[in-house]
Amino acid sequence: MNTEIITVSQNDTDLNEKLACAAACIKRGGLVVFPTETVYGLGGNALRADAAERIYKAKGRPSDNPLIIHIANARDAAKYCHTNELFDRLAEIFWPGPLTMIAKKRDCIPAAVTGGMDTVAVRLPSDPIARTLIALSDVPIAAPSANLSGHPSPTTKAHVINDLSGRVDMIIAGEDARIGVESTVIKVDENDVTVLRPGGVTYEDLCAIVGREHVKIDRVVTEKIEEGVAPLSPGMKYRHYAPIAPVHLLSGTEEAITAFLRRAAREDDAAFLVYDEDAHLLPPLRTKTLGRKNAPNEQAHKLFDCLRAFDEMKGISHIYARLPEKAGIGLAVYNRLAKAAGFTVIDVESGEVGELK
Ligand code: TXA
Ligand code: MG
Repeated sequence: MNTEIITVSQNDTDLNEKLACAAACIKRGGLVVFPTETVYGLGGNALRADAAERIYKAKGRPSDNPLIIHIANARDAAKYCHTNELFDRLAEIFWPGPLTMIAKKRDCIPAAVTGGMDTVAVRLPSDPIARTLIALSDVPIAAPSANLSGHPSPTTKAHVINDLSGRVDMIIAGEDARIGVESTVIKVDENDVTVLRPGGVTYEDLCAIVGREHVKIDRVVTEKIEEGVAPLSPGMKYRHYAPIAPVHLLSGTEEAITAFLRRAAREDDAAFLVYDEDAHLLPPLRTKTLGRKNAPNEQAHKLFDCLRAFDEMKGISHIYARLPEKAGIGLAVYNRLAKAAGFTVIDVESGEVGELK
């Protein structure tokens, strides 16, 4: 398939003209990759089962993993799912933005889009390119992250061009994703919400609105789930985001980690994913930095680009990675790294490998 690449910027004053073709393509069942503030999405018409099937095929993704539908106006949510008061309140506060809400689906959303589930995930992105595309298409856009299945989510146009050229009709090449990790996914019940995937709308943000006692974090976010247990969010069971070389997370005091890194710097097949402050201890060609230690936003922004970079490094057999704090968007970075490491961690003092808790 010949993939057309359209280069645009959020600041273009002629976005409508530039995106008209892409919107028409979505409407007639084609596939268009587009930027959002979280990660790039691989979009298709969410009202057509055949478009969903093409999305799964292009990504090489199992079709039991449901897709998020993207809308341009909050009031459209009620056309596609059964909203309630809490849903509307959260939409009012957090949309447009990196929050995806799950509710019972309406019949117009084909089962192929929701992986056969009777619920649907809905999100209203804030990125102006994404919003213009959705509005012009005049249909909701079903879009998983625009990576090949098993690769980290794409946050730059280079990532999507690498993964999906020749597999989709169009790629809208815009700016780097501002946030860099996928949206927060929550299940919304009458009075409670459950976080199924942490992201840019944080646990603390949700607690501030609905009260701490009404916000749960699903176990899949921080713990390995046993074989055979069906998670609330099918996507959380897949081993995502993992570089080819195994990732070993490091836990311990600051001093112990520094001492560990000094020693590990002499292993010539080791690579490192660390904070800016650690970089001087380590070999530059085998080290990627996430950002400053106390800047979880920087870490989220750079995480997936760093993970992709390890696959290009020659001669490395394992990656040592710092384990971020769980506060704020740090929980999202923690969750993605935990998944990349199969939820195991090295205690740098004893050298013992254990499971994250
Ligand atoms: O930031 C994002 O959310 C990006 C951009 C493109 O919007 N999209 C994204 O989609 O990350 P995807 O398909 O890669 O991840 C969607 C996640 C999966 O873990 C999936 O299992 C879960 O949301 N999900 C979708 N619909 C669901 C449903 N009805 N019930 C439970 N989980 C659902
Ligand atoms: Mg994904």
